[in-house]
Amino acid sequence: MAAKKAVKKTENMEQNTPKKQLTIGVLTSGGDAPGMNAAIRAIVRVGIAKGCKMIGIKRGYAGLLSEEFIDMDVTTVCDTIQTGGTILQTARCPEFLTEEGEDHGAKICQKHGLDALIVIGGDGSFRGARTLAKRGVNVIGIPGTIDLDIPCTEYSIGFDTAINTAMDAIDKIRDTSSSHERCSIIEVMGRNAGYIALYCGIANGAEDILLPEFYDGNEQAIINNIITNRKRGKTHHIIVNAEGIGHSNQLAKTIEAATGIETRATILGYLQRGGRPTCTDRVHASTMGALAVDVIIEGKKNRIIALQKGKYVDLDIEEALDMKKDISKYQYEISRLLSV
Ligand code: ADP
Ligand code: F6P
Repeated sequence: MAAKKAVKKTENMEQNTPKKQLTIGVLTSGGDAPGMNAAIRAIVRVGIAKGCKMIGIKRGYAGLLSEEFIDMDVTTVCDTIQTGGTILQTARCPEFLTEEGEDHGAKICQKHGLDALIVIGGDGSFRGARTLAKRGVNVIGIPGTIDLDIPCTEYSIGFDTAINTAMDAIDKIRDTSSSHERCSIIEVMGRNAGYIALYCGIANGAEDILLPEFYDGNEQAIINNIITNRKRGKTHHIIVNAEGIGHSNQLAKTIEAATGIETRATILGYLQRGGRPTCTDRVHASTMGALAVDVIIEGKKNRIIALQKGKYVDLDIEEALDMKKDISKYQYEISRLLSV
């Protein structure tokens, strides 16, 4: 009986001890990506449900340096899960690449009493976050880029929407390309990585896929492939070219001059970065957002949220930034067989 009473007393004491309320900041940085809003929404709502004070920082590291801090509550993120872009806006911030900028950023986090800062962005944004971590700020990264070029994770917010947007656009180009019996070069985004090009190349049945990781600059091989395919009776020839290779207009001129086949280049550009996020992006972004908050509440420091072998994990930021990943050579090689 006495023991029971003692337990009860301890429980009550625990309940009566006010825990320090955590203050969590969130920003989006680098190129925007569809699904970033789903992540922000999850961070804010899970944070508030678990008793945290939630702060949004506008315009990435630029807004951090100019102290564009806003209080966020459950209603601030209403009606956002289905929207592309980022309600916090984003920026590339050259000032943050300097030591003074990084020192200043860390001091601002401390001045505003941030117990943790969640950075949604790409590899560059994570490198920025690491400089804050080195200055004592607890940073948690969530992968957000359409490029899928963050080595530690097999998923990044926005990639799924971007490839579906690009795939739809390429299907449309193929219709008109076949009708006019043209060759079409479609340049997709991805910075120096070929993930968007590889996925669209396979999904759109492209006759040629040019990836920065594998392309050897052999234009004659492309020309030969076009001629062979035309002889086989193909009415179109789709080349998906990665922006990391670029020069699509120049390549179109070279092909037309060598083959006599009308050739057009289309650079898809920013339309790939906008639009309603797909279900996959909404679900992964929401889960990663929630996990970022849980990781902070567990007391972990300086983590990157990632998807590895289909599972959500959190990794030490230093280890995560040292990781490498390769684009699939197998998928690249089979794409040639698939499009014959
Ligand atoms: P992403 O995050 O999509 O890769 P960027 O490479 O443009 O996009 O990075 C976004 C911002 O992160 C940069 O404008 C800069 O402010 C910051 N950043 C990038 N790389 C570093 C770095 N090595 N050190 C500090 N900050 C960085
Ligand atoms: O990182 C996303 C991305 O869209 C890349 O694919 C592209 O190279 C780059 O951003 C374009 O950046 P900006 O918006 O600064 O032109």
